[in-house]
Amino acid sequence: MSDTIETLSWVGGASDGFLRLIDQTLLPLELRTIDCRNVESVWNAIKQLQVRGAPAIGIAAAYGIIVGIQNASVNSLEKRFYDVAQYLASSRPTAVNLFWAIDRMKHRYESSKISANRGSSEDLTQILNELFSEARKIHEEDRAICRAIGNYGQSIIKNGDVFITHCNAGGLATADYGTALAVFFTAAELGKKISVYADETRPLLQGARLTAWELMQRGINVTLICDSMAAMVMRQGKANGVIVGADRIAANGDTANKIGTYGLAISANVHNIPFYVAAPVSTFDLSLQDGAEIPIEERNADEICCSFGKRTAPENVNVYNPAFDVTPANYIAGIITEKGIISPVNKENIKKIITN
Ligand code: MRU
Repeated sequence: MSDTIETLSWVGGASDGFLRLIDQTLLPLELRTIDCRNVESVWNAIKQLQVRGAPAIGIAAAYGIIVGIQNASVNSLEKRFYDVAQYLASSRPTAVNLFWAIDRMKHRYESSKISANRGSSEDLTQILNELFSEARKIHEEDRAICRAIGNYGQSIIKNGDVFITHCNAGGLATADYGTALAVFFTAAELGKKISVYADETRPLLQGARLTAWELMQRGINVTLICDSMAAMVMRQGKANGVIVGADRIAANGDTANKIGTYGLAISANVHNIPFYVAAPVSTFDLSLQDGAEIPIEERNADEICCSFGKRTAPENVNVYNPAFDVTPANYIAGIITEKGIISPVNKENIKKIITN
């Protein structure tokens, strides 16, 4: 997302290339990339949050399939493809974009198998090239989607507005430009004056480390607050809107996003402040009736007790560390997608926009 370094990029060709990622665990102190030349390193990068954010995880997984099958032989390709897909799907459970991207790759694999005659090394090259072009397409489409989300979303921003955001739904969480942050970036590009409070986002500080960094890089006025300060900021009348990203949205609009989002939505509703979600259509999971069905990732206790290397809680204390929570649809004023803004948020309106 930086002007010189992309969040994700592919270096080389389909058969000999690799995935290059900004290592987001090092930001904001160091802007450094890592190269993933095998599927294990892609899996680890997703698991360890070196690449994170729902759309970016999907793109990484699509390229992960390519590095995972590059060395397959004609005879091992079928098994290898499905093993790699299943392995990548086990990296993180909540963001549906991961499974969406893997499914797209599966469909492309099945159709390229039919068009190839099977059994020759030329067929192998053809299948690999087709899968590579699908991964590239997922990546490129996401850039356009983020711009469209920004364009629709900026309509809710007035000159002088102050918004709160949580976690990081910016260029680092997508191919480029972001979802929630795209709304701010587009409004600013159109000359609207916008200020943002960034929740630091315990326990891994994506808001402090990534969102504050991205907004500052783009010259947007940002003020960092602890998550627990957001309600007070609202009560003091310092903010007039909230926009967050999403990891999975059920058919009725219930939305999973970074832990702390639900509390933020409750506070916004109590203070009569509109609470928006910005997300691509690929974040909707219409197979789930409501948010109760969304799988919530639980992460290691050390993220709370020893984050960033320093122990801040007693040894062996019991810890509960869900990485996401679910905000009920009735707290959400609108969902900003690349196809338009869904408002009011309900099953019918979601279906109308998503399936058109
Ligand atoms: O655990 P993370 O950092 O992957 O969580 C990310 C979020 O919750 C984002 O808000 C969400 O993925 C939307 S990114 C456009």
